[in-house]
Amino acid sequence: MRVTQFLLWSLFLRILPAWGMDYFDYQATTPCDPQVVEAMAPYWTQEFGNPHSPHAFGVRAATALEAARQQIAKIMGGKAQDYIFTSGATEANGLAILGVMGAASPKKRHIITCATEHKSVLETCLSLARQGYTVTVLPVDRKGHLSLELLKQSIRADTCLVSLMTANNEIGLIHPIAEILKICHDRGVWLHTDATQAVGFLPPRAFRADLVSFSGHKIYGPKGVGVLYVAPHIKIRPLIYGGVQEQGKRPGTPPVPLCVGMAKALVLAEEHREQEKRRLAQLQELFLGELRALSGWQLNGGRKDRLPNNINVSIEGVDREDLLAALPEFALSSGSACNTEEHFSHVLEALDPEEKNPPAALRIGFGRGTTEEAVRRLVSQIITAVQQLRVAKPSGGKRACATQKGTLRSSRKS
Ligand SMILES: Cc1ncc(COP(=O)(O)O)c(C=O)c1O
Repeated sequence: MRVTQFLLWSLFLRILPAWGMDYFDYQATTPCDPQVVEAMAPYWTQEFGNPHSPHAFGVRAATALEAARQQIAKIMGGKAQDYIFTSGATEANGLAILGVMGAASPKKRHIITCATEHKSVLETCLSLARQGYTVTVLPVDRKGHLSLELLKQSIRADTCLVSLMTANNEIGLIHPIAEILKICHDRGVWLHTDATQAVGFLPPRAFRADLVSFSGHKIYGPKGVGVLYVAPHIKIRPLIYGGVQEQGKRPGTPPVPLCVGMAKALVLAEEHREQEKRRLAQLQELFLGELRALSGWQLNGGRKDRLPNNINVSIEGVDREDLLAALPEFALSSGSACNTEEHFSHVLEALDPEEKNPPAALRIGFGRGTTEEAVRRLVSQIITAVQQLRVAKPSGGKRACATQKGTLRSSRKS
């Protein structure tokens, strides 16, 4: 029954573009699965109790909340009480970093992170630096890999926490979290990983750490809910103060419908993980193969150690706004949704800090609604748009790759 529902919905998502745009921004967010909506439904209306109320309404809400926590723990590992519901991965990352650093001994005021982390990690670390903590931001190579040697060398006597994401939201690069955890533990340091983009694609053992964050709306769950796993040996200080909810670590009335939806989304994501991974990896191959008909582009990040649902390409000789405007039938992004107000993606900048005039970049995210036909249509229209723009605006516009550092590698070499 479940499988039939999933297939029907996937089919619906795949015929949906006939009425509008083809959605290629699954790293920004995903639609809520109807089975998730169905699971949440009673908790908005008849089962609306506050889980901390003593009466029957409260007891039923508390039962649903704890069942959701149990489901999450069963999939992710550890005990239900190790999981704290938050408003999303941004808050979960903030609670992990500020919470651990705030509870640590005054002798442990050093934190290590990486230049390609999500802004919710980088900005949180920056706020710590402003308070007098020491922050080391590790660089990455041209493909987005960090050096484990450099990580080892960067750990000092006063290091408290390392925060490194499992998979990158812009270039899909996967960090070897199991190896990193060993490095950290061998040196008496805790590891936090932001697994927001990895959940549903990697097995939970791939992001086992002392603290793990993830979000509902990246896995076909609701927006406004996230989870932070805190291992029993880790002490955290809350970011806000109030009641005893979430063991006092995240006070405030828990949004029961969202928590129920989050657990349901995770169950479904795990059920379909391998099958979806294989399907999306084929679409990734198809996209890259078809794009070979175009010259002057490169894949940002490597092909190895990459999420199957992500592609990020830089295209020489066109302006990124012109390019997006020339592709009105596709919901695409030129980077992370959190970076759209900015000039240029900090992730792409980290891959090539010397580049002063970066080429247009497109992030293409595949998901449950993506079909082979839509991928072919997208590639074909990218090629047409780029060729037309290169003729119409030979200078490539203000953010074009004016080849200050020489031309990009051709597609065949990438
Ligand atoms: C890697 C990563 N971390 C954190 C977040 C923030 O998640 P949320 O929207 O749930 O706050 C995102 C969302 O873009 C993300 O991709």
